[in-house]
Amino acid sequence: MDQTSALQNELHLLAFSKYPTFQLVVFISVLFMYLLSIAGNVFVFITVLQTPQLHTPMYFFLCNLTVLDVLYVSVILPKLLVITFTGDTRITYLGCFTQIFFYVFSIGTEVCLLTSMAYDRYVAICIPLRYFVIMKRSTCLIFSMFCWIIGTFNSLMYYLLISKLSFPSFSEINHFFCHMKSVLSIACSDSTSISNLITADGFLFGLVTLILILTSYMYIISTILKILTSSGRRKTFTSCSSHLIIVMLFFFTSLFLNMKAESKCSQEWDKAFSMVYIAVVPMLNPLIYSLRNKEVLDAVKKSMKNTVM
Ligand SMILES: *[C@@H]1O[C@H](CO)[C@@H](O)[C@H](O)[C@H]1NC(C)=O
Repeated sequence: MDQTSALQNELHLLAFSKYPTFQLVVFISVLFMYLLSIAGNVFVFITVLQTPQLHTPMYFFLCNLTVLDVLYVSVILPKLLVITFTGDTRITYLGCFTQIFFYVFSIGTEVCLLTSMAYDRYVAICIPLRYFVIMKRSTCLIFSMFCWIIGTFNSLMYYLLISKLSFPSFSEINHFFCHMKSVLSIACSDSTSISNLITADGFLFGLVTLILILTSYMYIISTILKILTSSGRRKTFTSCSSHLIIVMLFFFTSLFLNMKAESKCSQEWDKAFSMVYIAVVPMLNPLIYSLRNKEVLDAVKKSMKNTVM
């Protein structure tokens, strides 16, 4: 089957349509989370750009994360909203592959950025005197460019491989977005190459980045323990605690779920749990960064004062 005929076939994203009584609840809560994560991320993005004190590598990386979070939720949740609102579960194969592309892109780029941020925290805390020499503007730019490029390249490979597979003329996906595993499970042709790519990615984006982040934090913690005053210790720890929370949220939710074996009985749980990292985590990220962070809070207070006066 060639690709043009694949585009005309019927594909259904079942989402939560098995529970008609819950449709309205699902719709309202998803809409609420979607708007909140867009608002939160846009707010952090604007605050960082408008505050000269926040023009540091850490916050520039954070801006990159907010852009990714907006992209990530926007490629999945609006379609889910349409499905729950209209009850029309159809999606085109092209739409489905596009979701996979941006989903994989966001996750890959995000994990790479989180690793760069861990390195940034390592330099800031363990070798502070050389911080501004090492984390120059050009270094940060190279780090972030590298992440965006490797993220694009990686998801492009999936896109090309998946769009070459053949699919039945009618199929249903019991998920609320085109989750890679669900899409592969309905494919008629051999998908070994994609399975191999997933394994390689699990190693590169999961294990290698996790080891790099853990190594940074081992150095960071041993440096913090050497600080003599407890207020100094707390202050230093605060400068990396929000990053640490976001890293833990990210790894526990997304990688845990993506690596878990697919089983028929756990599909409903999978969906519910996916909701956590698709909708809840992007909503929490800006909150964690702004509420736990005195610099951001100060900037917010200041800009509010300016607009009021
Ligand atoms: C991403 O990070 C880089 C490096 O810190 C920065 O120069 C760039 O402006 C950021 N881009 C966005 C969209 O936030």
